[in-house]
Amino acid sequence: MTDDAPLELPPRILSGIQPTGELHLGNYFGAIVQHIALPAEFPGECLFFIADYHALTTVRDPAFLREMVRHVAVTYLALGLDTEKAMLFRQSDVPEVTELTWLLMCVTGMGLIERAHAFKDKVANGIKPSMGLFCYPVLMAADILVYGSSVVPVGKDQVQHIEMAQDMATYVNEAVGQPVLRRPEWRLSKAPYVPGLDGKKMSKSYGNAIPIFATGKPLRKLVGKIVTDSTPLGDPLPTEGCNVLAILDLFLDDAGREEVRTWYRAGARDGQPFGYGHAKVYLAECMERRFAEAHVRREALLADPARVDAVLADGATRARALATATLERCRAAFGLR
Ligand code: ADP
Ligand code: TRP
Repeated sequence: MTDDAPLELPPRILSGIQPTGELHLGNYFGAIVQHIALPAEFPGECLFFIADYHALTTVRDPAFLREMVRHVAVTYLALGLDTEKAMLFRQSDVPEVTELTWLLMCVTGMGLIERAHAFKDKVANGIKPSMGLFCYPVLMAADILVYGSSVVPVGKDQVQHIEMAQDMATYVNEAVGQPVLRRPEWRLSKAPYVPGLDGKKMSKSYGNAIPIFATGKPLRKLVGKIVTDSTPLGDPLPTEGCNVLAILDLFLDDAGREEVRTWYRAGARDGQPFGYGHAKVYLAECMERRFAEAHVRREALLADPARVDAVLADGATRARALATATLERCRAAFGLR
């Protein structure tokens, strides 16, 4: 399809994150750091949204949902997202996305959606699917297409959803006989795989996560739970397959990584025995150091909810202008006007 050219849209990069639980180091290294770096390096518009409509496929507690939306917004702002350049907004503040979802559903075969891995996995895990869960990829395609996004940075698990969005853009353009939607491209983020406390993928649904803003005693307690082997204190520690080291590495530069490896290989640091307990304390220190400034910004944001609301409202206004233009084109092309 050469449907980009007639639309003449500027480059736009978009990503969404679900407000379904406390954000953790997996989300930070796997997604948020890349998102925060984008406004300075991407030659176009950057959109980040909090996917509260998507969260409704699993969340039933309105107070929890509101709290998590705020938590995601505060986290992005505390970690330094430049909202002059990037738009940060709540998905549901742009209701046009649900209208586009309907238009997409009308041109999309059930078969395409039935092939979604994420949906099949959930059903295989015993989750009774709602229509919302079934149509999750259609809403996600609408998220992408409504803003005319050109690039969507994602993890491997989401690639199929972006391919579906590409298909749906083509179905609409073919159905109406003119290019009204831009076909997006996915970009695999250079994200590391972050192990959780038990060594499996860190995830809020596995109870193995370290929250980004954990500090002090609770952080030390959590980090203390990272599973290791039983090498006795003072013996050399293995540098392969160590969960503590895998997480530590994410906080260190090359010199720092090499330094920790010398402690591991010697089982000693500065002439004193060095074991997993010491490595865990060091990890907690590195984490607190990395997020020290973010903690200060976070406290200020938590004390000033109106500022967070204002940022989200401004992001929604700017994003909604893009969505409105897309819907105008679509409504006219489908004969709704
Ligand atoms: P969770 O598994 O906690 O529910 P999500 O699936 O909502 O996390 O993921 C949100 C973003 O964070 C996605 O871009 C995902 O790729 C990334 N992410 C989540 N967990 C990890 C991890 N353990 N390692 C790397 N990236 C992760
Ligand atoms: N499904 C994504 C996830 O679970 C979140 C999401 C919703 C998204 N809509 C999106 C990501 C649009 C990128 C683009 O991580």
